Amino acid sequence: MRIGLLGFGVVGRGVYDILASREDMKIVKVCCLEDVTLPDAEVTKDFQRILQDDTIDTVIEAMGGLHPAYEFVRACMEAGKNIVTSNKALVASYYDELLPLAAEKGLSFRCTAAVGGGIGWLSEVERSRRVQTITQVGGIMNGTCNYILDNMTRKGLDYNVVLKEAQALGYAEANPSTDVDGIDTWHKVILSSNIAFGVSLNRDQVPVAGISKIAASDVENFKAHGLVCKLISTGKCENGKYSVYVQPTLVKADTLEANVPMNYNLITLYGETSGRMSFYGQGAGRYPTAYNVVQDLVDLTEGKGFYSVYGPAVDVDNSEELTWYVRGSWQGDVAENWGGAVVTKAVSVSEMHAWIKQNPDAFVAAIRA
Ligand code: HSE
Repeated sequence: MRIGLLGFGVVGRGVYDILASREDMKIVKVCCLEDVTLPDAEVTKDFQRILQDDTIDTVIEAMGGLHPAYEFVRACMEAGKNIVTSNKALVASYYDELLPLAAEKGLSFRCTAAVGGGIGWLSEVERSRRVQTITQVGGIMNGTCNYILDNMTRKGLDYNVVLKEAQALGYAEANPSTDVDGIDTWHKVILSSNIAFGVSLNRDQVPVAGISKIAASDVENFKAHGLVCKLISTGKCENGKYSVYVQPTLVKADTLEANVPMNYNLITLYGETSGRMSFYGQGAGRYPTAYNVVQDLVDLTEGKGFYSVYGPAVDVDNSEELTWYVRGSWQGDVAENWGGAVVTKAVSVSEMHAWIKQNPDAFVAAIRA
């Protein structure tokens, strides 16, 4: 396998290091913005050097972001090159275009590192689908948010201090708003649901709320009630109804989710035969993520393409009712007062997310207790 690598940041560099000891797959050209010199690969800023090299059969996209990642990946596919990417924004956003294109061109397209970093999550969803119907996916999918919430909970640190640490450790996206506003998790649950349920969700109907408004006083409030806050994604398929959302969620302190530390992820599927199965590991960082990119390369050598066939477009219905912790000017029914915040009576997911849009300075978390 002769490989062109797009991007030499956290993930790209990790892939290069892991492949250095392999004979069966070689990175021959790297296209990146950094001024690096490599002993065994051409480094260029000119993407055409990779696109026009007919000896390159496989391209790894580790640039992140939508543009020019999308244009580069699409051009490589048009040129007949297989793709391995860790870019969840790319795959979730261009699912309806890249998947059919890969099928039409007979190309392999893998993206295991796009969800869960080093966890074999999407690849296990693929295996699971072979023998059962998956009814639910989701969990803790963002290492940066988990790092922030875990450090705020265990050490009582301030939000901004731990966000900076997560950035220094290479967990956060280039624009950390993508992490803390839940967009990264949103991409990951859309992608996971599409693959698990064999559909293409209407993305505009999947609501997301992030953690950027959480305060130390909220964390104290949760502790006093035996709860821990995590950013949790949910994707459910029940009786042909798809319910998918991302939101801060309060879980009991003795649950698996509550005890996920640092940059780790805990992603769960429920299957009709297996029941609950949870996958735990480092969801962000250089070598964990690069590990799954290399796993995909090995899959390519075995002829594996995408995880599931491209499925029909489906709508999302978030009429499910939950109770919520709200610190903000909530005017609806209140079940309890917690200090300066309230716990609401049952409110549907869609209704609460509409309220959050109107009240962007409020902090809201669903209560799963
Ligand atoms: N920024 C992402 C995270 C990287 O923190 O989980 C891995 O997708």
